[in-house]
Amino acid sequence: MQAGSTPTGYALDPYSTLLPQPELAFSQPGTCLLNARTAVEVAGSPEIDGLFRRFVAGLPLPTGDPGNDPANTTQTTLSFVTETDDAPGAYRILVTESGVGIRAGGFEGAVSALTTLRQLMPAHAWRREWNAGGGWAVPCGTVADRPEYGWRGAMLDVARHFFPKRTILRYVDLLAAHRFNRLHLHLADDQGWRVESRRHPRLHEVGSWRPSTRLGPDGVPDGTPHGGYYTLDDLAEISAYARARGITIVPEIDVPGHTSALRAAYPELGRPGQEQAVLDTVWAGGSSLSPTRPVVAFLEDVLAEILDAVDTPYVHLGGDECDMGWWADDPAIAAEMAEHGYTDVKQMHGHFLRSLGRFLSSRGVRMVVWDEGFVTGGVLPDTIVMAWRGHEVAGRAAASHDVVRAPLFPTYFNFDQSDLPEEPRSEGGPITLDDIAAFPPAPAEWPDGMRQRVLGAQFQIWSEWVATESRLDYLAFPRACALAEVLWRGRVADPVDFERRLTVHLERLDALGVGYRPPAGPHPWQTGGTGVWRRSGPGRIEETKKWVESISREP
Ligand code: ACM
Repeated sequence: MQAGSTPTGYALDPYSTLLPQPELAFSQPGTCLLNARTAVEVAGSPEIDGLFRRFVAGLPLPTGDPGNDPANTTQTTLSFVTETDDAPGAYRILVTESGVGIRAGGFEGAVSALTTLRQLMPAHAWRREWNAGGGWAVPCGTVADRPEYGWRGAMLDVARHFFPKRTILRYVDLLAAHRFNRLHLHLADDQGWRVESRRHPRLHEVGSWRPSTRLGPDGVPDGTPHGGYYTLDDLAEISAYARARGITIVPEIDVPGHTSALRAAYPELGRPGQEQAVLDTVWAGGSSLSPTRPVVAFLEDVLAEILDAVDTPYVHLGGDECDMGWWADDPAIAAEMAEHGYTDVKQMHGHFLRSLGRFLSSRGVRMVVWDEGFVTGGVLPDTIVMAWRGHEVAGRAAASHDVVRAPLFPTYFNFDQSDLPEEPRSEGGPITLDDIAAFPPAPAEWPDGMRQRVLGAQFQIWSEWVATESRLDYLAFPRACALAEVLWRGRVADPVDFERRLTVHLERLDALGVGYRPPAGPHPWQTGGTGVWRRSGPGRIEETKKWVESISREP
């Protein structure tokens, strides 16, 4: 930008502050004023037309006459043209004094472009309401951009702690602001079942709440009931809201392990005679389902209901950390194993997941499994393997399957962000911003064939120790900003420049009302204090990394 042309509200050339960083972005002299009078001209699908109209209508402007600034007599245009040869998610923006022109291959690119356009405005443009006078002055310039990875995700565990629908919708907005395009909802685990079932209503009636929670290191029940679930209508709303913001919901029903809540509702689906309750402890309960036909049929009912509500090509079936110890001695399971000629219970684990996967295929949906599912053969040719353990199993899976990287290190954001003693209680760590910035989803040492099977990556927030939205904000941001850049650009090319852009970006998060962790350390109210949220001791991330790599090599 030339001297003298910097519009009010800009400290820096905004083309140099974009996060994630586009492939190409530079400013030119002049500015373009966007306001409620800006004409929208879309040569694209009705969906894109709606997206652009909503963008202009949603710009925070004073109500009343948008042209109340007497100096403002210009009429600008926000236009979209479909570019048939663009890669999914790719887009171009040209800002001139007469308007903003956007070109993209489709809806995903259009969403990304508008996110970038909002970042070209002052941080106040991220507020819901703001008196921007006659409109928002966007400096002239050009952006040409495309994403490196197609799966740019976040997993939220709503089972250990339930997050109300409004938190999920807000989270969708925050993810979209960082060009993430998948929200994986972990809807079922030992500590809670979080979705309505009209066919099997005890799932939500019984499985969705617990009378108490044992959080503290001393394991004392807190005596406070905890629970909640999404109705199928809530899920449909979340799915539509996310879709309109370029995000696909990936629902997960974790089976056949992690099923205490499911079995509190329907104990007959697991080990005969085993008492079950929704767990009030933070750790896994060792409950598992019987991998037999009647259980597959029951789960097909549940998955069908979810698929009627959620518009998604992906359903996650879990498959992780399953206790198969009792399977060989159970007559019904042994009989099915004999029928298939299986000699190892792991074959039954694979068989069970494949059966459900074929049901999903019949509905045009690809199954996703944690990497244990890959190891036991619980995969179909088009199954996506979500590799959470070490790098070794991710590589094994990428030799034959599409892989989404979700390694504990460095994508489990429920771990501490630093080694400061005042960090709140978590599961260990630290996993720092620098660790994430240095993470290569497709490692350079892998052959091209394997690298090409890496669809992308996602960060996880497991919620054993995450009971509130403010804790969620604290853990997700700003680490999600670093992963967003890794996934969009392929890597954080220049950590010093990333830090500079992040400083500006934090003003956008302030405008959005995000309770992120400040770079220098937590605010006093974000620390663990001296109660049950106090940190349990120094993190041992090197030991954790060794452990997760060792279990990753399990056959
Ligand atoms: C996992 O952390 N068990 C996926």
